[in-house]
Amino acid sequence: MHPTRFLTGITTSGTPHLGNYVGSIRPSVRASQAPDVESYYFLADYHALIKIDEPARIQRSTLEIAASWLACGLDPQRVVFYRQSDVPEIPELTWFLTCVTGKGVLNRAHAYKAAVDKNTAANADPDADVNVGLFMYPVLMGADILMFNAHKVPVGRDQVQHIEMARDMANSFNHRYGEHFVPPQAVIEESVATLPGLDGRKMSKSYDNTIPLFAPREQLKKLIAGIKTDSRAPGEAKDTEGSALFQIYQAFASEAETQALRQAYANGIAWGEAKDLLFERIDREIAPMRDAYEALIHNPERIEAILQKGAAKARQISMPFMGRLRQAVGLRSLVGATADVTRTKTSKAAVAAFKQYREKDGQFYFKLVGAQGDVLLQSRAYASPQVAGQRIAQLQQQGDTALRALANELEPLDAAAHAAVAATLADMAAANA
Ligand code: TRP
Repeated sequence: MHPTRFLTGITTSGTPHLGNYVGSIRPSVRASQAPDVESYYFLADYHALIKIDEPARIQRSTLEIAASWLACGLDPQRVVFYRQSDVPEIPELTWFLTCVTGKGVLNRAHAYKAAVDKNTAANADPDADVNVGLFMYPVLMGADILMFNAHKVPVGRDQVQHIEMARDMANSFNHRYGEHFVPPQAVIEESVATLPGLDGRKMSKSYDNTIPLFAPREQLKKLIAGIKTDSRAPGEAKDTEGSALFQIYQAFASEAETQALRQAYANGIAWGEAKDLLFERIDREIAPMRDAYEALIHNPERIEAILQKGAAKARQISMPFMGRLRQAVGLRSLVGATADVTRTKTSKAAVAAFKQYREKDGQFYFKLVGAQGDVLLQSRAYASPQVAGQRIAQLQQQGDTALRALANELEPLDAAAHAAVAATLADMAAANA
């Protein structure tokens, strides 16, 4: 059984607030702990560049979001947690997908269309102040998803259109170049509440009504004291309906606790007292994570190291996959280009193979052996089998480029032998594509 792959991106354009926690971080961290799932979480910092041109803010937000997810229990051992811009195959794939996506499709993307509609309504040029990043947003997102062939993408309603576009990109690429991509599906979290903010509207940075997830205790208390309530006096029964305070409490409390507050409302609890209850309830859940957050945020090296490890894990997938995609679209070494273009996978190269072995000297080696048992390529000694294995992978993925880069570690080849090996590597890659 193949585990279901989930993938979620978080744009690094702000400071996480309680609404993000309840709506995204908490359910996602829980979901990542389920058996039989493979989860990919990444910091969508290329996406952030579309809206933000302040470098320090991008960096700060990346730090805060990474620290928040880790503090809330995301386990980087268990999931693949990485930063989008550490995976250069993603922008490369973006270009491939750009070339199979109709411009008309992107004209209809909600975010771009909203900007155009706003300009049109203001009698301005339809594309005034619209950068091409906004226009291309869905393609970059498609590359995020297809790079790892995610099956399911948990998103809010506003993102469903993007997932549908990613499906279309997968299908049109597959149609042209063979079955490379799994068309992804959106998972809409209906059960997850949207949290009201301080003023009762949806908690959102754009309304300036948020409560930062890791505000210090005193600030949290102050902010909660500022939640909008009606003017009913202590002793007067209160309405739970439409009470932001009640809804926020409910997002943190058990059934029984919620029931108790409902009763207290009916009994005329004073607003000040209700706010104290809410503060204590939230703080009980957040306080231990706040300590973890503080420790992380003051130790950016640790977060950086975690992200680097995550990127290495991600690239173990993205690099060889991108190698196959380059082959598939025809971005290939010219060596072997005179071969019959209709040749199928059963070329002689398909029977060439890498052999890895250990010599009596205790060192590790590999060689590329042709169909007749002839040695086409011979490595020098490696102290560890892992490094030898990595070099083989590099040759498989990058062909001639790796052959040149690794020249110092290989027995020398003359020009003709070099060309023959490069052609064999290209054929092997094509046969595996
Ligand atoms: N667009 C998403 C948002 O604003 C963030 C994102 C970028 C994303 N790439 C993604 C989400 C890929 C899911 C999958 O919320």
